[in-house]
Amino acid sequence: MEKIKSDIWKWEDSYSVGVKVIDEDHKILLGLLNEVLEINNSETAEEQGAIKSVIYELMSYTEYHFDREELLMEVCGYPGLNNHKRAHGLLKAQVEELIDGYKKNAKSFNSLLLYNFMESWLSEHIATMDKDYESWMQNKNDIIDKANKSFEDGRH
Ligand SMILES: [Fe+2]
Repeated sequence: MEKIKSDIWKWEDSYSVGVKVIDEDHKILLGLLNEVLEINNSETAEEQGAIKSVIYELMSYTEYHFDREELLMEVCGYPGLNNHKRAHGLLKAQVEELIDGYKKNAKSFNSLLLYNFMESWLSEHIATMDKDYESWMQNKNDIIDKANKSFEDGRH
């Protein structure tokens, strides 16, 4: 399989969207991106098998993260909410498509495709759409913390 030519991604302060819990989610997603990179670069069958857990983790964490992000945008009265939700809908559909492809033929699953998708999502979506709510979410920590707490309580 074609190898990804990239170094491991490191979190940079410039990626921050100014909301701690969302930054933490983005760091987890970046970690998954690095896992795909490592899997792609490994030759062993065992490590190739690890792609399955990354894919399923990506699916569940993406849902979880988008739900959180949408809730926090909503409680802060962010005016771009609907637009942003639409973008999340498209990304979710793409994740589902990748998973379908994996389910149909796990052996020939292309981790490069998965990597490219995740890389452009994390670099473009975060840098543009997520960054857009940064100023709107400022000085709303009380609202954000309260909503996030009930979000997490409802999930666990
Ligand atoms: Fe987003």
